[in-house]
Amino acid sequence: MYKDKKVVFSGVQPSGMLTIGNYLGAIQNFPTFSEQYRCYYCVVDLHAITVRQNPAELRRRTYETLALYMACGLDPEKNVLFAQSHVSAHAELGWILDCYTMFGELSRMTQFKDKSAKNADNINAGLFTYPALMAADILLYQTELVPVGSDQKQHLELARDIATRFNGIYGDTFVVPEGFIPKAAARVMSLADPTKKMSKSDENENAVVRILDPKDVILRKFKRAVTDSGCEVRRGEGKAAIENLMSIYGAFAKKTPEEIEREFDGRGYGDFKAAVGEACADALAPVQAEFNRLMADKAYLEEVMAKGAAEAAHDTLRTMSKVRRKIGFTEIKR
Ligand code: TRP
Repeated sequence: MYKDKKVVFSGVQPSGMLTIGNYLGAIQNFPTFSEQYRCYYCVVDLHAITVRQNPAELRRRTYETLALYMACGLDPEKNVLFAQSHVSAHAELGWILDCYTMFGELSRMTQFKDKSAKNADNINAGLFTYPALMAADILLYQTELVPVGSDQKQHLELARDIATRFNGIYGDTFVVPEGFIPKAAARVMSLADPTKKMSKSDENENAVVRILDPKDVILRKFKRAVTDSGCEVRRGEGKAAIENLMSIYGAFAKKTPEEIEREFDGRGYGDFKAAVGEACADALAPVQAEFNRLMADKAYLEEVMAKGAAEAAHDTLRTMSKVRRKIGFTEIKR
């Protein structure tokens, strides 16, 4: 624990640009955490290399992800923002936890099964042990709360199991973390299929709106969004697509479902989808402007990363020395 504050930790992949689902369901709320919690937001470049990366692109995306988080309101003075590869304790504890994670457990991870199906020519050991590294990320900081998407629930459960197992063998070492999964209302669904969550890795680019999409792209994607039968902007049976658009509109324009139904009473889907696009583009404009400003200032981003890494590294020392001692590693006396 840090100065008696409980800890929030979240990791984000530097791959694929974040969507309005990530924004509305998660990132938008992150700045409020920092009043109550000690917050770590980590760009997980070690996890990224479990699938083959283009080096220049990985580097650029790491900067971009950091800049995007900051543009969404995460103040580097109030949060620890850093890159995973800058803090060697992640890899170190990752290895240790590999030895407390069972082959059978890792084999059951649905993300591993999905990713190995997609990358059949590169099913490497890192892809398999990915969840143990994620557990290390979390457990290193004695994290209480982990904001994650519902797709990461299984990994979080495993992190809890690993922590509990380790504590069972050696006595209390790690805090057993809780997930913080956005409630259904905050879930944004695909624009092509309202039964599926909007996913940043969707192959159909028209199904996802990204935080950094230019206005004309945003308008076009909403215009093409699937709708339901009928023509009324209302909630109800068989209205999943319209309900999804209503909740996106409501979140960006700060309107209730009742207000939206009244506003579009007697107007068609076309009008409505144009309004959703406008509201989304307007709300994202300041985020995009700030992102561009930050990306033009690499020196500042590097300064933020360096400071974040130094703080994070310092905060890992206690957990790491506890872990080493409990396992039975010898100590170097300095
Ligand atoms: N696996 C997460 C994802 O793909 C990213 C991640 C890595 C993470 N380490 C983490 C999330 C620790 C939360 C906590 O989204």
